Amino acid sequence: MTGLSGAPVALITAAAHGIGAATARAFAEDGYRLVLADIDATGLDAAGAALPGQVATVLADATTETGSAAAVDAAIARYGRLDALVNVVGGSRPGRTVVDLELAEWDRWLALNLTSVFLMCRAALPHLVTTGGAVVNVSSGAGLRGMRANPAYCAAKAGVVGLTRALAIDHGPAGVRINCVAPGPVRTPLMQRNRSPAEIAQLGTIAVLGRIGEPGEIAAAIRWLASDAASYLTGQTIEVDGGPAPLV
Ligand SMILES: NC(=O)c1ccc[n+]([C@@H]2O[C@H](COP(=O)([O-])OP(=O)(O)OC[C@H]3O[C@@H](n4cnc5c(N)ncnc54)[C@H](O)[C@@H]3O)[C@@H](O)[C@H]2O)c1
Repeated sequence: MTGLSGAPVALITAAAHGIGAATARAFAEDGYRLVLADIDATGLDAAGAALPGQVATVLADATTETGSAAAVDAAIARYGRLDALVNVVGGSRPGRTVVDLELAEWDRWLALNLTSVFLMCRAALPHLVTTGGAVVNVSSGAGLRGMRANPAYCAAKAGVVGLTRALAIDHGPAGVRINCVAPGPVRTPLMQRNRSPAEIAQLGTIAVLGRIGEPGEIAAAIRWLASDAASYLTGQTIEVDGGPAPLV
């Protein structure tokens, strides 16, 4: 069959830094051919150059129809197939409750964290059906258990959990698995932008394991969910958070 030869192909968004970059490393180790998508050209070049194997990069804003389509088109143009989509794009800036939140800001966080997943899946699913591929979305503990002064992020990340289940129901019969990871606090540029070193140390005391996570520890769960080792798993959200804090 033309266009379906060679090693599997993974498209990873937000791949220039943090969890996305660590996920790209994990998939490269598993022998995937990669497309890294991000809006940071310099970071994208550095992330791509650091990886072994076949790596393509694409400057693409996952919150737009053109950007999401361009990312998927890059995978098909370069490799002729798509086996895994990892939707890592997301983020927030805590500090406001609903009372202080401008509508434009609400819309911005919803677009970044939830609409991006919808757009990327819409563009990729026709190709994932062809390969019997997998999607892994990145939510957050904030979407399951909440977080102070970050209502748009909490709502959007809860939406990612619901969208994951909806996608799994609709596209499982066609052979595509869609799962989700919900990380706790992870040491990434996002974390370092939003929290002081003292706050990061404090966050580490919340987890049962007594520390915050490293990007590679989230990537390990994503890699497993995309692999055949998780072949009977779909619609699920796995918390990767060092263990939930006990009530007492
Ligand atoms: N770091 C944490 O503690 C933590 C915890 C729970 C969930 N998460 C989630 O994990 C994901 C990754 O977080 P991170 O900490 O690695 O973030 P990060 O900010 O460190 O890296 C995000 C990357 O996304 C890129 N990006 C931003 N907007 C984009 C867009 N519109 N299109 C394409 N790329 C874009 C940035 O250029 C950057 O390379 C996010 O969805 C975040 O909400 C992070």
